[in-house]
Order: sequence, then structure tokens, then C-alpha cells
Amino acid sequence: MSAQHLLDIASLSQEELRRILDLSVDPLVIHKKPLQDKGVALIFEKPSNRTRHSMEMAVVALGGHPVYTRGEEIGFDTRESVEDVARIMAGYHSVLAARVFSHSVVERMANVSSVPVINMLSDMSHPLQALADIITMEEHCGPISSLQVSWLGDYNNVARSLGEAVCKLGGHIAYGCPMGYEPNAHELDRLQSFGGKAHHSTDPIEAVKGAHVVHTDTWISMGQEAEASGRRQIFGAYQVNDQVMSAAQPDAKFMHCMPAHRGEEVTAEVFDSSVSLVIEQGHHRLTSARGALAWVLEKS
Ligand code: CP
Ligand code: NVA
Repeated sequence: MSAQHLLDIASLSQEELRRILDLSVDPLVIHKKPLQDKGVALIFEKPSNRTRHSMEMAVVALGGHPVYTRGEEIGFDTRESVEDVARIMAGYHSVLAARVFSHSVVERMANVSSVPVINMLSDMSHPLQALADIITMEEHCGPISSLQVSWLGDYNNVARSLGEAVCKLGGHIAYGCPMGYEPNAHELDRLQSFGGKAHHSTDPIEAVKGAHVVHTDTWISMGQEAEASGRRQIFGAYQVNDQVMSAAQPDAKFMHCMPAHRGEEVTAEVFDSSVSLVIEQGHHRLTSARGALAWVLEKS
């Protein structure tokens, strides 16, 4: 049987997505120790706090041994090819997980790996984050199918995976992004084809009307540092502040995948307020990491 990879939310059926979410919160997963005496490679081409720590501790919780390696040390396509790295590591480890610049790297790993490959963030998607976001929203706000989630800022990796997950579960995602950084009509159709509702407005206030959750992320993703000053100007009107939150549902919650920049994409008043779920959301990265690992192992 070939290995089951987890590269993005889009390629999961609704049942598969629900199964990962169920495994994430199932205490039996820890009891069963599906990684007993097995290794998991954690390769990072970019910095990380939450993803590295949650994945390392999830591997330990499932009985395994995580091996962290920086991308520079591996040298994808410089020291040796992505394919050679993946084929060799698959002989040492039961899962290969990677945080990469280009999504094509995790796809190339998955094409040749005999063990599951998990995407720990690429330019295209951040599935482990979306899983944690869904767990957090369902815990605090109710079933996704009854929610409107509004996203302000850049239509980036986190925004895309969140929209895929919300739509797969029958919810409504509303994006408020500046032109040039928005989901285009084709992308909105793609999201809606999963079963939910997706729309975009360039007006941030219009985008958050009716929102049960307002979500944002940095305006400057890893690798975009050279564009920082231009991006701060372009996204300035999309800051989540008290005015934005008061245009959403009266009991709306605030979420952010972190790391956060107070005074840029969100004010300190909102980020540190009682409606902010950011710490719970960050802690659910461990919950979702366990579910993701358990699922790829169960399906492989
Ligand atoms: N949200 C997230 O992936 O955080 P890190 O970059 O710290 O892993
Ligand atoms: N969009 C951000 C997410 C960080 C967790 C980035 O790619 O840097």
C-alpha cells in the first residue's frame, strides 16, 4: 500500500478531514502509541516556534523520536536532490515532515517517499495550522457549518488552507484583501466547489460583517522580507482593530496563527483582549499535530 501524505487540505475529502479532527482530540491515540520506537524527520527551510515544538512533542506523545534538521544542513537541490533526501530518509523514519519555501519540494518528496510526507508550511499551504484553527473555532464558536469566518490581509498560505478547511466543512469564508493580494474569481470558485461559501471584498468592514470569527496573519510572510515596507503600506487599511471587531457579530472572536506584530496586522487592544483565542489556537497546534501524524500512519 502506498503512503498517505498530508500536503494540503484541498486534497482531503470531508470525511478524511473529519477523521483527522477526531483523531486529534481522541485520547486513545496517545494510549496506542502508533510511533513506538519510530523516527520522524522534521526538516525546516524556514524558522519556526509553534510548528517545531508541537510536532516534536506530538511525535514524543505518540511514542516516537523526532529528528530536527535545518534546511541548510540538508541542502535541497544544492547538496543533493530533494528526491535523494526523501528516499534515504524514508529508510530511517516512519514520517517525513518539511517546512519549505516552494510547495513543489513537498510534492517531489511525496512522489518518491515510501513513508508519509507532511507539509509543515509551504508558500501554498499550512494544513497543520488550518486543522488547529478548526478545532479552536468548533470548541469556542460551534460547528463550522454554522459559522462565518472573515479573513483580513494577505491571501497567503494560511488564508488558503483556512478557506479550504472552512469550505470543506460547509462554512462561510469571507476575505477582505487589497487588490493583487486577494483570492480571484477562479480561486473563490475552487473554494466553493468544496461545499461552503467563499467571497471577497476589498472593503475590510464589509468583509467582517456577520463574522463569528475574524482571522488575520502577518502582512510579510517568511521569504517576503524585501517587500516589507511596500506591504505595510498596501495592507495598512486591513488592520484588525476595535472598529473592525465592532463591525463583526457582537460576540465575535479574534484569531491569528502567530507570530503576530502588534500595531501592524492587529492592534494590541484586540490581540490581547478577552475575545482573542490566539493562545488556545496556538496550543491546539499540538492537538492537530497528533491527529495529523496518527491519520497518515493509520492510512499508510
Ligand atoms: N503558526 C506557525 O506556524 O508558527 P511557527 O512559524 O512559529 O511554527
Ligand atoms: N504566512 C506566514 C505564516 C507563518 C506561520 C508565513 O508564511 O510566514
